[in-house]
Formats: sequence, C-alpha cells, structure tokens
Amino acid sequence: MRDLFGADPSRFDALSRSHGDLLFDYSKNRITFETLDLLIDLARARYLEQQRDAMFAGDAINTTEDRAVLHMALRAGFANPYKTRDGNVGELVSGVLTRMGQLVDAVHSGTKTGHTGKRLTDVVNIGIGGSHLGPQMATEALAPYHHPGITVHFVSNVDGNDLASTLSGLDPETTLFLIASKTFTTQETMTNAYSAHAWLTQSLGDEAVTDHFAAISTNTEAVEEFGIDTANMFEFWDWVGGRLSLWSSIGLPIALAVGMENFLSMLNGARQMDEHFRDAPFDQNLPVLMGLIGIWNINFLGCDTLAVLPYDQRFSYLPAFLQQLDMESNGKGVTHAGEPVSYATGPIVFGEPGTNGQHAFYQLLHQSTKVTPADFIVVAEPDHGLPGHHDQLLANALAQTEALMKGRTLDEAGGNPHRKFSGNRPTNTLLMRRLDPLNLGKLIALYEHKVFVQGAVWGINSFDQWGVELGKELAGDVLSSIESDDEISHDGSTSGLLTQLKAWEDA
Ligand code: F6P
Repeated sequence: MRDLFGADPSRFDALSRSHGDLLFDYSKNRITFETLDLLIDLARARYLEQQRDAMFAGDAINTTEDRAVLHMALRAGFANPYKTRDGNVGELVSGVLTRMGQLVDAVHSGTKTGHTGKRLTDVVNIGIGGSHLGPQMATEALAPYHHPGITVHFVSNVDGNDLASTLSGLDPETTLFLIASKTFTTQETMTNAYSAHAWLTQSLGDEAVTDHFAAISTNTEAVEEFGIDTANMFEFWDWVGGRLSLWSSIGLPIALAVGMENFLSMLNGARQMDEHFRDAPFDQNLPVLMGLIGIWNINFLGCDTLAVLPYDQRFSYLPAFLQQLDMESNGKGVTHAGEPVSYATGPIVFGEPGTNGQHAFYQLLHQSTKVTPADFIVVAEPDHGLPGHHDQLLANALAQTEALMKGRTLDEAGGNPHRKFSGNRPTNTLLMRRLDPLNLGKLIALYEHKVFVQGAVWGINSFDQWGVELGKELAGDVLSSIESDDEISHDGSTSGLLTQLKAWEDA
C-alpha cells in the first residue's frame, strides 16, 4: 500500500465516496483499480443486481423460511408507502408507526401514567438478540437526544442478575415494561417477562398489568396468552428479520428514549441509504463497494476476521450489534440449494470503541502473524463541550489507520525486529460528520446492505438462522436433567458436569 500511495497522489480521491455527511475511505486496502473492476465483474456474475431487485420487490428470498425480506418497507416514510409486487405493505407500517407515536407522546407528556396515576419515568425493554441489540445500540448512540424524564433500560440475559440488578433501582408504580420478541416464545425473554410480571403484580396487583406492560411481537396469540391486552401490542411482520428489526415496533424503546421525531429521522437516514443501494452504479455504491472489499479480504487474501472499531463512546454497543448482523446472517456453510460451499463465508466480527481497544488487542492488529482487516468509524463533531478530548480521539483514530497501512521497516526501527511493523494491513474508514439520528440510520443501513451483498455473492441465505436451533433444543434436555432425576443420556463430559453441579447443590 505504501507503494500504491507513493505512485498515485490522487488515490484517496479515487478510492473514497461520500453520501451526504458520511465519507467512506477504502483507499487503505490492498486493491488496485483492476481489483475493483474484477470484483464488480464477480458481483455481476453472481447476479447481485437481480438478487437486490428481488429483495426490494418483496420476493421470498429467505428461501428456507419462504419469507420476503422487507425491512426497507419499515423506513419508506409516511409520504412514500412501500409497494411490493404483491401489494402495499406501507399501510401496515404507517398504522403501527402512528400508534407508536401516540404512546411515545403520551408517556412523554405524562397523559399516560402508571396504574396509581404516577408519571412513568422508566422503561424496561425485555428482549434478546435482534429484539435487544439494535434498540440498545441506537438508544446509547443517541444519548444527547434522550428525553430528560425517561430512562430506558435493557434486560436480555436469562441470568437473573440482569433483571434483578435492573429492577433493584426501580419503582413498580413508575415503570413500563416492553416485552420484545418476534416469536414471543424465546426462553430467555419469556422467563424474564414472567419474573417482571411477578415483581409488578406483587406490589400493584394483577389489574396493574395493562398499564405497565406492552408487547412487541408478530405472535398475537402468545401475547394474549401471556396476559397482555392486544390494545397494548405493537405488531410487526414475518418479513422483518430479527436482526433487521430495530426499524419496526422493536424500535419502540429507541422512540421512547429520543422521541418520535428523532426515530423517524433515523428511519429517513436508512431510507436514503436504501435508495442509494437500489439506484447507484456499483462503482459508486457504498454497500456494494464495502461488501466487495470484504470479499477481497476474506476470499482472496485469506483474512476472515473483521474488527469494528468505532472512535466514539456512544457507539459502545455497535460492535455487538454488527456482530449479530453479520455473523448470524452470513455464518453459513451451504448455498441456497443446500450444497456445501467450497469457500469462506462470513467473517468473525469483534470490536471495541477506540481508544480503549488500543490498550487491549491492537498489539495483535499491528504485529501478529494474522492480518485482521478493520473498519474505523469516526465521528467528526462531538456533542460534549470538554476541551481537548475530541482532537486527541480523532488523532488516535487516524494515526492507527496510518500505522496499520504504513508499518515501520526494519531500517526505520533501527534494526530492532521487535519494533518493526509489517504494515500493509487493510482498513476502511467511515467518517461521519455528526452522530445524529439521520446519520445513524444511514450507517446501520449501509452495514445491513453490505451483509446482503456478501451473502448474495456467496450464494447463501443471509436471512435464516438455523445455527442457533440445536443449542436451544439441547438446552431443553439439559434443563430436564438439572430439574429432575430422569435419566437422559448425554455425552460423558456433559454427564460429568451435571453430576458435579448436582453434588454441589446437594452438599
Ligand atoms: O436465537 C436467535 C434469535 O432467533 C435471533 O435471530 C433473534 O433476534 C433472537 O433469537 C430473538 O428472537 P425473538 O425476537 O423471537 O425473541
């Protein structure tokens, strides 16, 4: 890369693209213009255009579940209701958005109160995976936009410590629970929901449930069975994948935190990225370029890990969110037709905000035998007034990408091999002018479509998640073994661990 930059002073201009206040710099990759042309040929040969158009048209591209993939419909906006080949889903979306807005306004203005007439001050979102990571990430990212009278909390883990520590600071009279689950059957979420229900009714009685619980789900029957009135249910649909659902009613905790106007602005940012992805030529198209560069790194350079390195503390949950988005979508080993793939697919994604990560795992990024491509996400304008901090943050972000690219030769290191850096390590930099709802929406949609592009080129189904099923099934058997003395045969290790657990329990 040193040579490529040396030979071409305009490399940055040629290999960076902007979309509004978002700049994508991919010049610090081990690519030439020919590489990019060939990658675009590969995308065409794998029918990327046709696959993208089929998704936008509402075809059932999630073949194993026979479902359309239409999260774009959620952010089309009231003014442009989304139409698929089969009909107008825009009306469904607008209806739920209107009801979400009514609840948010009522909670913020205090016209909706708790059962005893007190103002609601705390919202607890109970959900996991896609029903948790996106809302938590966006709520945290938009901290400067939070409504001053409302605190939103997130509980996901079936480990009772999660719920117990959240409830310990709360007053049932002023707490609203959102039970967020696409299926309304997820073990962790339902266990937490029943415990929250018991906590509330012990203080306020069963009649308080209707004022303190709302459900977000596609499963009306299960919501009713749990005891939540469907008047307090915010619907979404099977064409919204869990990890793509923060734009739906699953985003209610975000809207309660930042207000409906800001939530709609986030949807608007995502819509702008949808239109760009749908319409821009491949060599100008941010998700296409980002996806293809990832494929270059994974399949041609053999670098199958991706570090997500946001230089903004408000993005502390972004790596975990993108980890689910990417790894649950593209961690697949068979094609649509069920044939084993003969090439690497989705990367291992991990990350941590900078500068913290610099003092933890960047050693490996700089000098390990493994080359780990990284995405640096940098926000230009801070929303705090503390002098000095932000320039240091920016300097660190840019210095890291420079160091990873340039390295340090043995000569430059004074002949000391321990201080030599090979460099030539690929990075992307996404520069965002401000972290506001619009730009957040654009950024998330950019990553969603990047994941789509890669899955399309690999010929896999990015929208199912059978890989989480086996563990769920076996957990049921193991739970039976823990709770009863029934003989269920397990492997030797699992039986040994169960025996030790029971011995400690009985001691
Ligand atoms: O187990 C994985 C998963 O199915 C994710 O895909 C999903 O986001 C999460 O569980 C939660 O599912 P639900 O919203 O149905 O509770």
